[in-house]
Amino acid sequence: MEFQELIRKRYSVRAYESRPVEEEKLTRILDAAGLAPTACNLQPFRIVVLQTKGREKELGRIYHRDWFVQAPLVLAVCALPGESWKRKHDGWDASEVDATIAMDHLILAATDEGLGTCWIAAFDPKAAREVLGLPPDVVPVAFTPLGYPADSPGPKKRRPAADLVRRERW
Ligand SMILES: Cc1cc2nc3c(=O)[nH]c(=O)nc-3n(C[C@H](O)[C@H](O)[C@H](O)COP(=O)(O)O)c2cc1C
Repeated sequence: MEFQELIRKRYSVRAYESRPVEEEKLTRILDAAGLAPTACNLQPFRIVVLQTKGREKELGRIYHRDWFVQAPLVLAVCALPGESWKRKHDGWDASEVDATIAMDHLILAATDEGLGTCWIAAFDPKAAREVLGLPPDVVPVAFTPLGYPADSPGPKKRRPAADLVRRERW
């Protein structure tokens, strides 16, 4: 898909078919995440692929919406602060930005495959740690269902670019 069309086509899908996601599509989506730029190319993120079938109740503890477990897959993008680049001036840690860029890559790749996603940050981090068995040094950053959309997009509501951009100085 042409890039300008792709970014306009992506929307937050909040209803999914149970139809399986083809393995080759999943592979291309995960490869796209792996191509994301990261600070110093350290790739301090991991993606956990979760099958929803039979795990609906358990996964529902992470984010309590029916549509969260409607798709056959849920992906979790996690940051590894122990492996990331830190800015020497102030110690700022790039791991969550790196993980977020990987998440955006996979979301756009999924759109390109005709699949739906929805960024989810309002999950319960404690439940996420328990259900995914995350070690203490791994930070869950965002979840998304991955499956065929069963809804359709509404109109995009966005501020005009002129409100979002400053030139030369704030
Ligand atoms: C960092 C981030 C966190 C989000 N968390 C949630 C969430 O927890 N639940 C949800 O339903 N949508 C969530 N969203 C989706 C936004 O509500 C959505 O992207 C925004 O309203 C614009 O709509 P669109 O994605 O359809 O263009 C999140 C989006 C981002 C970028």
